[in-house]
Amino acid sequence: MACKATPQPGLKVWFCCVFLLTCIVSPGESSTWGMSNQMCTDPCSLTLVESIPDNLTYPAGAPVHPSTYDGLLSLINSAKQSIELASFYWSLHGSDTSYHDDSDWQGESLFQKLLKAGRDRKIKIKIAQNSPQTSNDTKELAQSAGAEVRSLNITRLIGNGILQTKMWLIDRQHFYVGSANFDWRSLRQIKELGVVVKFNSTPGTSFLSSSLPRFCAMGRTVDTHAIVSIIREAKEFVHISVMDYSPTTEFMYPREYWPVIDDEIRKAAFRGVEVKLLGSYWLHTHNDMITYMESLSILSTSPRPLMDCHVKLFIVPAYTPSQSKIPFARVMHNRYMVTDRTAYIGTTNWSGDSYINTAGIGFVVNQPGSSTAGNSREQLEKIFLRDWYSEYAHTIPQLKKQLSQQ
Ligand SMILES: *[C@@H]1O[C@H](CO)[C@@H](O)[C@H](O)[C@H]1NC(C)=O
Ligand SMILES: *[C@@H]1O[C@H](CO)[C@@H](O)[C@H](O)[C@H]1NC(C)=O
Ligand SMILES: *[C@@H]1O[C@H](CO)[C@@H](O)[C@H](O)[C@H]1NC(C)=O
Ligand SMILES: *[C@@H]1O[C@H](CO)[C@@H](O)[C@H](O)[C@H]1NC(C)=O
Repeated sequence: MACKATPQPGLKVWFCCVFLLTCIVSPGESSTWGMSNQMCTDPCSLTLVESIPDNLTYPAGAPVHPSTYDGLLSLINSAKQSIELASFYWSLHGSDTSYHDDSDWQGESLFQKLLKAGRDRKIKIKIAQNSPQTSNDTKELAQSAGAEVRSLNITRLIGNGILQTKMWLIDRQHFYVGSANFDWRSLRQIKELGVVVKFNSTPGTSFLSSSLPRFCAMGRTVDTHAIVSIIREAKEFVHISVMDYSPTTEFMYPREYWPVIDDEIRKAAFRGVEVKLLGSYWLHTHNDMITYMESLSILSTSPRPLMDCHVKLFIVPAYTPSQSKIPFARVMHNRYMVTDRTAYIGTTNWSGDSYINTAGIGFVVNQPGSSTAGNSREQLEKIFLRDWYSEYAHTIPQLKKQLSQQ
């Protein structure tokens, strides 16, 4: 389930990637899992794709990447045989949410393209979705596009939890992994980051084939192991952009302390690695997330050893009355990390729940160094810094001041 780059003459975009699907490694195997095993040698091309919420602007010259919408459209259009989707919830139609505005057309358009792919181009569509679903989107695809839909009740399987994966797999060769749900808001009203991966060599990509029908939370430790080892291997910096950050479970009761990632971050700061953690702040942010993030930023006030550990919170403002009425939108929903060696793009929050009972996936690209054409790690580093230094990112004192003035 992984591929590693071997430098080869004539090919510019060689790198090493480790693809992690949560269900393919059993807990027994995961204890021996390492970043270097299970490697294959397929070359792939990566395109980072982003959803930048309407009216959120950056200064001229800031990095710009293709939109999530364009990336997903290109995947649908390229499909020849199959489109396999792993999803949390669906609301691609504007009418799926209690309020919508004109920006819903991209969700509609994606839905119609998907429907036509199944109905007119006879592409086999398979959908794994979290259960329950509130919308009828997947029923409609089953009826009109022959989609095969399977619902996963993770609560029934393991007692508690959800399927948080967001993945589009095309012809078992090309895929999208990232934070964007199957939601019209994820295209225009929520800030998302993902990656579209296309394999240049045709065969040898069967590595995804057995994994999709078997979504389960059993391999969850693998994702954590990847995150931990990426932080451990960082030599210069660790930059993290996640919606929710907490060293506890947030939704599971009784709540548990879960310092697996938090400990690693503190250790990294202690050994001199620069740490920047960018969380997301919106109406639904838990107050204790701010407390835990603040406890990390306080490390930077320690005189010895000097710890370069900083946190900020990203706010997506609503610029129009309509935008402020859209439920559960106008928020930074990213789940990625970039270090001096590695880029990691995930699908779940960084809290105990996400790794104890949420089925998600992470995509890892090891690309130390810089300045090679198409270096995705370096591109992600620039995206992070663009956001970190933007007017939308607030330190905790700035945030508290702003909140007290409201
Ligand atoms: C928001 O962006 C749209 C175009 O995308 C523009 O027409 C509109 O004037 C902008 N509104 C504000 C309040 O900036
Ligand atoms: C889904 O379909 C049912 C039955 O046709 C309908 O009652 C319900 O309102 C639909 N739900 C949504 C969110 O459109
Ligand atoms: C999921 O499983 C749980 C436990 O078996 C059950 O209580 C719940 O109703 C199920 N949900 C759906 C949507 O089927
Ligand atoms: C992720 O965080 C958001 C915001 O707090 C929350 O609405 C969502 O339920 C969380 N997801 C999981 C899987 O914990």
